[in-house]
Parts: sequence; structure tokens; C-alpha cells
Amino acid sequence: MKKVRIFADRNLTAGEISPRLFGSFLEHLGRAVYEGIYEPTHPTADENGFRRDVLALVKELGVPVVRYPGGNFLSGYDWKDGVGPKEHRPTRLDLAWHTTETNEFGTDEFMKWCRAANIEPMMGVNMGTGTVKSAAELVEYCNHAGGTYLSDLRRANGAEKPYGVRLWCIGNEMDGPWQIGHLTAEEYGRKALEAAKVMRWTNGEGANVPSPNKPLELVVSGSSNHEMDTFPEWDRVVLENTYEHVDYLSMHRYYEYDPGRPLEDFFGAADDMKEFIGTLGATIEYVRAKVRSKKRVHISFDEWNIWTQSAPRTEDIWKRAPHLLEDVYTFRDTLVFAGLMNTLINSCDVVKIGCLAQLVNVIAPISTKKGGKALRQATFYPFRYLANSCRGVALYTLSESDTFASRYGTARTVNEAITFDEREGSITVSLCNYGAEAREVELELRSFGELKAIEYQELAGCALSAVNTFDRPEAVVPHAKELPVVKDGRMMLSLPPMSWSFLKLSQK
Ligand code: AHR
Repeated sequence: MKKVRIFADRNLTAGEISPRLFGSFLEHLGRAVYEGIYEPTHPTADENGFRRDVLALVKELGVPVVRYPGGNFLSGYDWKDGVGPKEHRPTRLDLAWHTTETNEFGTDEFMKWCRAANIEPMMGVNMGTGTVKSAAELVEYCNHAGGTYLSDLRRANGAEKPYGVRLWCIGNEMDGPWQIGHLTAEEYGRKALEAAKVMRWTNGEGANVPSPNKPLELVVSGSSNHEMDTFPEWDRVVLENTYEHVDYLSMHRYYEYDPGRPLEDFFGAADDMKEFIGTLGATIEYVRAKVRSKKRVHISFDEWNIWTQSAPRTEDIWKRAPHLLEDVYTFRDTLVFAGLMNTLINSCDVVKIGCLAQLVNVIAPISTKKGGKALRQATFYPFRYLANSCRGVALYTLSESDTFASRYGTARTVNEAITFDEREGSITVSLCNYGAEAREVELELRSFGELKAIEYQELAGCALSAVNTFDRPEAVVPHAKELPVVKDGRMMLSLPPMSWSFLKLSQK
């Protein structure tokens, strides 16, 4: 069996893990909201129309923050359409996805759902058809205590106390020609700067007296992926315009399996994502030096996933909540997905927010049937285990893994992330084996003192195309393995071919 040695030391930390790294994303797209989280006629619906079965799965997944309401949808959305008595809300065309939006669910419903799910809202403001004014007005609606038209409107709509939303995305994928109201980097940079300033002023910041509200955390729209012709110039120009006024630069990336190409090209995704993060991190540092700033801007990786693009269907046009982007995730997808999670964890010094795109039905770990059950897709499992366990810091790892060639360059056959939670005295290890043969891993964690393994799960042995379905919901699930013997912080782990393993250790 091929051998791999992996070494980590408690003093060699790669960065602190923000819990927001394990966030997700809900867009008004297909059945993400309608029939996803919200279905008033569903047998499990609560008094707000929220599906309790979906809420339970969202909690199990361990998602701390959710970005809303888009996505491409955001760039044509007027948030005022989605507040107030439902019978007065207008039905509109959604030009991003060519569907019909009834606005039955809007900002107030989202805030209530976040409370029910114990989730922090991450709101987006429209920079496509929207203006600096409409962005600031949404901040006023959400965060101003009362006594003004918009804050009193919120109170009249049932929310006496302000929502105190801290995280705001200034637009979505504004570099993309597919975006409603697409702008050049210079145009967007200028507009985002003004939006940021005025949103902060509306929140009571910048008045030379302390604001009654906590400062906003603002995300400026970065490159939609690193294959854009404008990457990384877009990011440089946008940041040069906004650096002192924002806190995060967003990045997005989806990977897709192409059956016409070698499997290695798909399995190399985790290392490619690492390179993308590295380039954006370097761009941020370049701008920081150029504008002579002491402040650190971090990355909000607020859309990432596997997404197999399919052609739109004529019968879906202008439908309300059609079945769009309902990818069914295979075991093969899940192996790549776990590697992407490893990359996010290993990049936690610079990536402080991560949003798995998306949460329910639309390229999501949770699928629902109208009036029926909710299902954990295969990708649900690596997310659930890692989001609920990776706390504290990520550790640098020294690995002697063999490598393979992919379209992105050289990638490691065994891809790992190791985290240490000092408060709990626990270590989490996530290992992907992309090899067609088993690997024996010698894991050395001597600096932690005496350790014992407390949980060992393995996702392996499925056909690459295996999926979970409503009829066979447990076709791709991890299985508990016999705990490894740990001696002097060393242990041997045997990784089956094409597998993901999750190991949790505790300091004795
Ligand atoms: O998540 C699906 C879409 O992907 C989002 O609407 C958009 O931001 C991205 O292109």
C-alpha cells in the first residue's frame, strides 16, 4: 500500500477559524425559498409557513450565517416589494432567472427564519438596478430604532426592535456581463464606495460620536471566478476605490465534473481553489500597500460549490418557483466537495466568511419534495461533520503525499485539513484520498501530548455516480470505523481508494 506521512504541530498554526467560514446562501431562485424553507401548506409548517423539517436539517448542518436574497436575483430586486401586508405585495418578473417572483417572502420573513434557525443574516443590497439610496434605505429599515418613515414601517410590519444586521454585501458578481446592471470595475468601485459610505452613515457611523449600532461589516463584490478576463484587475481596481471603507472582498467559484475529461481534472479542484484564494489574498495585500493602509481586508468566499450547468427548459420560463439548478450530488462530487472544504479551512487566515451556495434545493445539500420529505444529499455529510467540529485554529501540515496531474497543475493525492480547538482540547482531521488505490497515512501529532481517538467516520466504497434519493436516502453516507490506536501522538490510518475520512481526537 502506498504510504503518506502527515505531520502537524500545535505551535504551527495557519490561522484562526471564524465560525462564519461554514455559512450558506439562500437566493430567490427556483425552489430555494418557496417549497424549500417556506411552504405554508406543508404538514410540518410552523405559524410563519417555515418548514420545520428543513429547519431541523439546517440546524443539523451547523450553518451559522446565511447570505440573502441573491445572487443574480439581487441585481433586479426592489426590497420594498417584499415588505408589508402580503396581499399588497406586487408580483414581478425576475430577469435573472426568467421566473415570476410573488414576493410572499421578503426581508421580514427572512429575519424571522434566521431567528428560528439561530442564524446570522448576511444581507445583499442591489447594485444593478438599485442605487446608493435604496441600499441605505434597507439599512435604515433593518437597523434604525424608530421615528423615521422606514424604521416605523418596519415596526408597523411587526418588528418593533431593529434587526441589527451587521453583514452586508454591496451587490453581487458585478463583474459579470450576465448581471442585471453589469458595471466596469471603475464604475462599480465608485458606486460601491458611495454605497458603503452612505450605508455606514445610515447606521450612525462617521458622526464623530459613537454609533448606537455596532459597525457594519461590508463586503465588496470581487471576481466571479478566476477564469474571468477581468480577474484580478477587477479586484485591484474595486479595492483601490473602496479599501478603507469595506471589510471583505467577495470571491465565487463553482467546479463541474466533465465526463469528457479525465477524472483527475475534477479531483484537482481543491488545489486550484487554494491558488485562487492565494492570488486574491496577494491582490488585497498589494492594494493595502498601495493605499498605505494598516487595515486588513479579508475574503468572503460567499459562493462555492460543485455545479453542473444544464440548459434552461422552455417550460420553466416565467414560472413561480420552478425546479431550477436542482443538482443531485454524486459520491464523486462529494469527494471534491470535501477537498474544497479542506481548502477553505486551510485558508482561514484570509478567508473569514464562506457561503456554501446554496442551502436548499438549488445546488444544495438539502432537497425537498413539495408537501413531502426533506433529504440529505451526499454533500450534506462532509459539511455537517466539519462545520460542527472545526473550531479554534487550522494547523500547517507537512505532507509527503504523492501527486497527480490535473488541468489546474499538480495536485496532492491525499488532501488534508487539521484543526485544533484548544478550549475543547480536540483535534479534527479531514482526509481525502483521490487515488484509485488505498493509502496508508502515518499521522504524527506529537506536540499535543497524549491523545485518544473519539470519532472516526469514512465515506467510501460507493460507485462514483452513486447519489442519495428519496427512495434510497442513505446510499452515500459515512460509516463509523474502528478507532485507531494512538501512541505518543502517532497513528496509522488506512484510507480506501477514493474516500473521505473524518477523525476526531481528544487530549486525554
Ligand atoms: O448560485 C447561483 C448563481 O451563481 C448566483 O445567483 C450567482 O451569483 C452565481 O453566478
